[in-house]
Amino acid sequence: MTKINMNKEKLNSIANTLSNSPKGILAADESTNTITKRFDTINVESNNENRRRYRELLFTSENLNKYISGVILYDETVHQTTTDGVYFPQYLKSIGIIPGIKVDTGAVPVEKKSFEKVTEGLDGLQKRLEKYYSQNLEFTKWRAIIDVDKSNDIPSEYSIDLNAHSLSRYAKIVQDYEMVPIVEPEVLMDGAHDIVTCYEITSNVLKKVFEALDKQNVYLGGILLKPNMVISGKKCEQQASVEEVSTMTLKCLNENVPKEVPGIVFLSGGQSNELATQHLNQMNKDSEGTQWNISFSYGRALQQPCLSSWMGNDSNIEKAQKELLKRSKLNSEATSAKYSIEDENSLL
Ligand code: 13P
Repeated sequence: MTKINMNKEKLNSIANTLSNSPKGILAADESTNTITKRFDTINVESNNENRRRYRELLFTSENLNKYISGVILYDETVHQTTTDGVYFPQYLKSIGIIPGIKVDTGAVPVEKKSFEKVTEGLDGLQKRLEKYYSQNLEFTKWRAIIDVDKSNDIPSEYSIDLNAHSLSRYAKIVQDYEMVPIVEPEVLMDGAHDIVTCYEITSNVLKKVFEALDKQNVYLGGILLKPNMVISGKKCEQQASVEEVSTMTLKCLNENVPKEVPGIVFLSGGQSNELATQHLNQMNKDSEGTQWNISFSYGRALQQPCLSSWMGNDSNIEKAQKELLKRSKLNSEATSAKYSIEDENSLL
């Protein structure tokens, strides 16, 4: 067997392990800026030690590995340890959770005064990946942000093309380093647009992303797609039902995502915790016979209740961990359509 085939097997196996029911991914890769905003909501100072304490709380939750296949880390966290002095990536591996890493470096305006953004991080990526690979990280994430403002012709084809190109170049480089790239084009749910608009834009974005991945010769069996759900904008008066979200999202994916992709791991994007779980559950109910694993890679929709229970206080750790476990378990149930809304009250 040639080396290329060996690598393909390895990438496909990691991608499947990460997205296979009953597990999904915990996104804990908030940049320092983002985690600071989250800590502000609970009046906790965002310093290095508090960020370490919070991540330790998350990762040491008992039985997390029953529901969580992988955790996406931020660079700072990779270099931090548990109270016992074990580096977080090693600790996660020791409990059967695959550690991954965000490798984009954030988004900048497409043009000087543009509202639209393109994600950066290709410069020096190979050097960073070499280091991450030696630190036991097995998968990566890159998030492209697509704003929606129809009255101003946003998103422009230009910004979609730029982001699709960066995502595909990133994916190609990451696979060269034998790690699985999570390809995350996020059509934002901020705004008053309706679900049809979200469908049209998400379709166009996914089409362009897969064209770009093809051009870069990315091995589709060794990636995970992390898309937004097709959903009404937050400020849209007519909020689509759970069934509509499921139907429109599956339609959009069926039309645009090649069957070679092992898994779709959704982001939660600002949905309520319960809706993010209900939507995932409904899609798994409606998607019998589809080829991909359909799972989650949630940040806020897993962490929110945990963070608000913690409040920076050690005496709340147990309660906060239970909240994380609860959302992890419910989303795990949703990966095989076994969740029901009554389960919300039966845990804890
Ligand atoms: P949310 O689930 O909070 O959208 O975060 C997922 C993520 O990793 C965004 O890049």
